[in-house]
Amino acid sequence: MVHASFTSILAFFLFFSSGCATAPKVEDPYSFGVELMADSSPESAQNEGSSPATAHTAAQEIPLVGLRGLAAAYHLDFGAAVAFKALSISKYAQIVSSEFSTLTPENEMKWQYIHPVAGSYELFFGDQLVQFAQSHQMKVRGHTLVWHNQLPRWVSESVTTEDALLKLVTEHVSTIVGHYRGKIAKWDVANEVIDDAQGMRDTLFYRLSGTEFLSTAFRAAHEADADALLYLNDYSVEAINPKSNRLYELCKALLAQGVPLHGVGLQAHWDLDDLPSMSSVRKNIERFAALGLKVDITELDIRMKGAPTPERLRVQAEAYAALVRVVLDTEGSDSITVWGVDDGHSWVPQWMSSYGSALLLDGKYRAKQAYAAVVGELSNR
Ligand code: G3I
Repeated sequence: MVHASFTSILAFFLFFSSGCATAPKVEDPYSFGVELMADSSPESAQNEGSSPATAHTAAQEIPLVGLRGLAAAYHLDFGAAVAFKALSISKYAQIVSSEFSTLTPENEMKWQYIHPVAGSYELFFGDQLVQFAQSHQMKVRGHTLVWHNQLPRWVSESVTTEDALLKLVTEHVSTIVGHYRGKIAKWDVANEVIDDAQGMRDTLFYRLSGTEFLSTAFRAAHEADADALLYLNDYSVEAINPKSNRLYELCKALLAQGVPLHGVGLQAHWDLDDLPSMSSVRKNIERFAALGLKVDITELDIRMKGAPTPERLRVQAEAYAALVRVVLDTEGSDSITVWGVDDGHSWVPQWMSSYGSALLLDGKYRAKQAYAAVVGELSNR
């Protein structure tokens, strides 16, 4: 059953009375008070409200020229993770629509927010983001249907058997993908299922069903929207390494079972002091593409420890440019999404204190050297 809370009705009224560009100052859409399962991801350190470092040390202002237009010349989608709340900031909204050709809801389509209570779906904020995208000729990447994080406690408390789990996964996926049929081009059907150390990640989904939850989720998604491209998304799998090898083997196994898997998402949350080798990233993309899969960069950011310096910003710019080059030069990869619009709306400082400055624009929406380097890659070919 799909229902609209008071907040949604209020937001809906305000949204339409004030036109598309400025989203209303609605009460925090994330405050459903939904109890969450304990977060098991290694980097779960939160320090809310840390101010974004201004990374703008270049003397000269770098103009924003519209990455989406430049990238389109190479049939490359260039996107960003977008937060519904931030769309009420006109500068933010304007940059989203002028710079990016695809958007990924940063949190609004995650189980915690879109399915906060058993049998009840909160689709308002996802709908608003899809509408924003449509009104700016942008594509949408749905993120994410099945993930161990931001999963409400009612799921783990009420689901204790494989049958119950697969039934719930089917209902969850069919309801959401069906609701957005024809409006969402790509889905991160499952997120971060590979463990960092060995095998599959130890989650409720895997404990109750092995990998059956994956084939169930992908089949339900394909049934609900046969035109949507369906992805497995994960982090620290950009280069050839033991974790990406496990993802590769899992993809081969799912494809051999006839599971409608169309692509892999390489998140690329990188640390400037521990960048992967670009030739290994290229070989990794090539091997997944050789399986017939599309290979998207889905959550790119390159964080740096401490305050940005001209030298660190120069090295960051080179890293962004190098990845764009690899994507443009490698068959099977035609989509790059950065995980945030500007350093002021980046998850990094909130989760990894003393880190930040990870994106193409600083906390004042000013283009950084990284932005100029990406423009350079998309211009001088
Ligand atoms: O909803 C609450 C709100 O009520 C409360 O006032 C506020 C302050 O505590 O927090 C709000 O929830 C936050 C939520 O983002 C919405 O802003 C959570 O605390 C915060 O943990 C959550 O962080 C998100 C994180 O995923 C959760 O795992 C980040 O914004 C988001 O960028 C991040 O994205 C993930 C991808 O989905 C998957 N890959 C890794 C990536 C980075 O962790």
